[in-house]
Amino acid sequence: MASNSSSISTSAKRLDGKVAVITGGASGIGAATAKLFVKNGAKVVILDVQDDLGRSLCNEIGSEQISYVHCDVTNETQVENAIDFAVSKHGKIDIMYNNAGIIGSMAPGITTTDYENLKKVFDINVFGAFLGAKHAARVMIPAKKGVILFTASVAGVVAGMSPHTYAASKHAVIGLSNNLCVELGQYGIRVNCISPHVVDTPLLTKFVGEIDKNKVDEAIMKSSNLKIEKLEANDVAIAAVYLASDEAKYISGLNLMIDGGYSKTNPLFPMYISEIRSGFN
Ligand SMILES: NC(=O)c1ccc[n+]([C@@H]2O[C@H](COP(=O)([O-])OP(=O)(O)OC[C@H]3O[C@@H](n4cnc5c(N)ncnc54)[C@H](O)[C@@H]3O)[C@@H](O)[C@H]2O)c1
Repeated sequence: MASNSSSISTSAKRLDGKVAVITGGASGIGAATAKLFVKNGAKVVILDVQDDLGRSLCNEIGSEQISYVHCDVTNETQVENAIDFAVSKHGKIDIMYNNAGIIGSMAPGITTTDYENLKKVFDINVFGAFLGAKHAARVMIPAKKGVILFTASVAGVVAGMSPHTYAASKHAVIGLSNNLCVELGQYGIRVNCISPHVVDTPLLTKFVGEIDKNKVDEAIMKSSNLKIEKLEANDVAIAAVYLASDEAKYISGLNLMIDGGYSKTNPLFPMYISEIRSGFN
């Protein structure tokens, strides 16, 4: 996979002739993916609840290849109608990217977890992903082909990264993706997850709160395993293009970590030892 977005997006049209639906496509990772999918030749329908942002993204891209549909992923009728819209407009759906998600409230511990927040996070992150997959599969199964993607998170793999609700929702998304890959393989449908580390989007702003952006960047760099430039939404989009393309034709059941190896690390013991050695405890 190339690390440079422009070389991948302009030279090779990896998604030529394909039709993609992206939930949460008005902002952040979803918006970056919508742009890169269009550059790679796909026709894209973005679903979101932020109508102004969704429409202005379509105007910015300024192409017949992209359209916006208001769709709350927790509402099955809206998801069903949005999928039907994509099929009636473009004749098919090749790629369904279930990406919409929220962090929810930042309650730090189990004793302060409240049910309303738990329900909201699961409604969007998990049930929304279920509904997107369900209605895409309804179209893909008779076509005997398709790609279903989900955005999970490093928080679905590494414990202690986020509030319990968000972490549990992302574990659920990875579980759904794995299980679906088993059911849908017989129809030639590939199912994969993408699990990014921290990306600077409105969701991250909600997560970190009112902290100076430079300090957030510093924390990201200090805590990262791979000491290069920080992860961008477009890097996640590049992974989505790859997994959605025919180049990934035999890849299913993968949870692609885009975390620079972060999920492989646990530096706490050596960190404390070095603090003790330097006389700090
Ligand atoms: N930003 C990060 O650090 C990070 C890291 C790992 C995973 N993720 C995941 O990436 C995905 C995209 O998040 P992002 O960081 O781009 O944040 P974002 O807030 O920029 O984008 C999320 C989008 O989902 C939409 N959305 C929320 N509720 C919806 C609903 N009910 N129906 C339809 N759309 C809805 C929002 O309007 C927004 O446009 C999420 O699933 C998130 O959990 C983000």
